[in-house]
Amino acid sequence: MQFFLDTANLDQIKKFSDWGVVDGVTTNPTLISKENVSQEDRIKEIAKIVNGPISSEVIATDYEGMVIEGRKMAKWHKNIYVKLPTTEAGIRALTTLKKDGIKVNMTLVFSAGQALLLAKAGADLISPFVGRLDDIAEDGMALIAEIVAMYSNYNFDTKILVASIRHPRHVIDAAMLGAHVATMPADVLEKLIKHPLTDKGLAQFLADFEKVKNIQ
Ligand code: G3P
Repeated sequence: MQFFLDTANLDQIKKFSDWGVVDGVTTNPTLISKENVSQEDRIKEIAKIVNGPISSEVIATDYEGMVIEGRKMAKWHKNIYVKLPTTEAGIRALTTLKKDGIKVNMTLVFSAGQALLLAKAGADLISPFVGRLDDIAEDGMALIAEIVAMYSNYNFDTKILVASIRHPRHVIDAAMLGAHVATMPADVLEKLIKHPLTDKGLAQFLADFEKVKNIQ
């Protein structure tokens, strides 16, 4: 399973890259706006740290605008995945950008029907938002299970990038289902390594060592 960081914050990206677990980065207009920088500058800075897919989302909502923005972003770095919304204009723009050889991540996926259509249209990545479905009392992980089953029936090349992850259990469930990628905020990645029994056990080891450290 690949781990992507869902952030535009350079400190977070550096920190977890040093852990050796960051395969890529996803951004969106909300995450870029938190950093108060230009999207182009930040995406280029991220590309210097992470050698893997970096998703950069278009702002345009019309077909022509998405294609213009997507072509421009694709020139920023070889690892750019242009992120397009799952709309009628978005699927048309996906088809056009794929003809140009540009990698595309289709975002704001909330149904199995959308996921099936996007795979047929040749999306490189699709981003189903599990947390936002859970937020409205639907079952985000049930959607991932449906998409995994559909894609494996037909050997689609499209990869499932589980997004809107809120907690470590989402990551584990996505891995159990065989989703290709989980993109997660820094706090979720950090929580994956923590366990109170690890801390308690380490404290006990150190305390016991203190008792005998002068015996050599
Ligand atoms: O980057 C897309 C997605 O991961 C956003 O998550 O927490 O805003 O629903 P969230």
